Amino acid sequence: MNSIQHILISCILFAYVPACNSFVISQQQSASSSSSSSSSASLQSIISSHHATATTTTTTLSVSSITSPKDIVISTTDDDARSQFGTKDYWDELYQGRGDFPAEEYSWYFGWEGYGKLVKEHIVSKDCEILIPGIGNDGILLDLLRNGYNRLTATDYSEHAIERQKDLVSYEYSEDAVELMPMDARQMEGDWTGRFDAVLEKGAFDAIYLSGDGNLEQSVKEIERVLKPGGVLLSVSGVVPDELRKEVFREWEWVRDGSHELKAGCFVLKRPAKR
Ligand SMILES: C[S@@+](CC[C@H](N)C(=O)[O-])C[C@H]1O[C@@H](n2cnc3c(N)ncnc32)[C@H](O)[C@@H]1O
Repeated sequence: MNSIQHILISCILFAYVPACNSFVISQQQSASSSSSSSSSASLQSIISSHHATATTTTTTLSVSSITSPKDIVISTTDDDARSQFGTKDYWDELYQGRGDFPAEEYSWYFGWEGYGKLVKEHIVSKDCEILIPGIGNDGILLDLLRNGYNRLTATDYSEHAIERQKDLVSYEYSEDAVELMPMDARQMEGDWTGRFDAVLEKGAFDAIYLSGDGNLEQSVKEIERVLKPGGVLLSVSGVVPDELRKEVFREWEWVRDGSHELKAGCFVLKRPAKR
C-alpha cells in the first residue's frame, strides 16, 4: 500500500469510528495526562470534525457541602470541562443534530447483551423501582421493559435525549410505560429521597466527571440520596479514575469491582444502609 492509500484509508476509518470509541480514547488521554492538553485537544478536534461542532459550555457546581438539593447552586458555565464530552452543548447538539441513528451506534460501551445478565442478577424483582440517569440514546428502557421491569424512571440533562427516548419507547410501549424527564443528575427532585431500589448508569458518571471537578462527587451524593438504604447502583464506567471512584464510594459496599475490565468496568455497589 502506498502512502497516499494509507492516508486515505486512515481518513475513512476516522470518519466511521463510533463516537463511543472516540470517547474512550479521548478520555483515557484526558484522565491519564492532564498535561497533554495540546494532544488531547488535537484528538478532540478530529473527533468534533465528524460530529456537529460542539461549543464548550459545562455546568459547574459551586457548593461543596450539601445537605439537601435546595442548597445546591449549579452555574451554567462550561469553563471547567475536561473535554467536549463534559459539556451540555455537545450532548444537546448530538441528540438534536444527527437525525435518526441506530441505538447500537450510540449506546455507549455496550448494550443489554453486555450487562443484561448483571441487571437480572442484582435487580431480581421486576417490581423494583429503577432510575436511569443520563439515559442518552441508549436502548436500555426497551430492554428493561421487554424483560418485565415495569417501574422505570429515566432522566438526562439534555431535553433532546428525553425527546428521543419518548420516540424510542413509543415504538413498542405506551407513553406512560416509563417516567421520562429532563433532569441534572447533580440536582434531582427533592422528594425523591429514598425512592429507588436501584440506579443503572452507563457512561453518565464518565461524562459528569469530564464536566469538571466536584461534579462526580455531587452526582454520587444525589444518587445516594435517592436510593433506598441498601439500594443497588449498577455503573458501567470507563473514564472515572480508579482512585476517585474508590474515594467517592469508600463507604459503599463493593459487590462487584469492574476496575480490571477492558473497555469499561461493570461496577455493582450498594448504598450504605446507615448514614
Ligand atoms: C456517554 S453518554 C451515555 C448515554 C447512555 N447512558 C448510554 O449508555 O448510551 C452520557 C450521557 O450523560 C448525560 N449527562 C451528562 N452530564 C449529565 C448531568 N449532569 N446530568 C444528567 N445527564 C448528564 C449526557 O447528556 C449523555 O446522554
